[in-house]
Amino acid sequence: MESYRLVPRISREDLDARMTELAGRINRDYAGREILVVGVLKGSYIFIADLTRKITVPLEVDFVRLSSYGSKSETCGEVRITKDVELPVRGRDILVVEDIVDTGLTLRWYLEHLRRFNPRSISVCALVDKIERRQVQIPLDYIGLRIEKGFLVGYGLDYSEKHRNLPGIFEVRFNE
Ligand code: IMP
Repeated sequence: MESYRLVPRISREDLDARMTELAGRINRDYAGREILVVGVLKGSYIFIADLTRKITVPLEVDFVRLSSYGSKSETCGEVRITKDVELPVRGRDILVVEDIVDTGLTLRWYLEHLRRFNPRSISVCALVDKIERRQVQIPLDYIGLRIEKGFLVGYGLDYSEKHRNLPGIFEVRFNE
């Protein structure tokens, strides 16, 4: 594997403060309702664990796992579900929780798929909104962190399955 170093981008403490803000908005927006949180595996697992513990409206949690065809740098927007949600979606208020939105192709595909099951509403919460390579506009209702570009790891995010367990978020910088 190429040699690289990790540069700190956002600390565990700052992430915690962002989660508190996001959960506060979610609590206000969903007051009097019940949420079905659909976490997109694997990158969102820590984000979901922290965020849901700060949400005070009633909720249920389920997970979906998506795999994109082709290499990451050439996402073609064709997606496969390798683990689907198991709870019923029809008539529910869904909060899709994603780790990073990059080109947006994976999420666009999944939102179109989900709509076919007639949920009452769908909102999207992304830990990171990475804007430089966006190909399709997707309304993101809740955003943890917005960056221009860069490859991030930690807090659930991986580089070739490594570094998910770092408590904060780091940027991978490749050595020349
Ligand atoms: P998209 O279809 O291009 O939006 O792909 C988004 C997916 O690519 C995310 O759910 C991640 O799995 C992965 N990804 C994109 N950028 C990063 C990154 O900086 N770190 C870790 N994973 C990333």
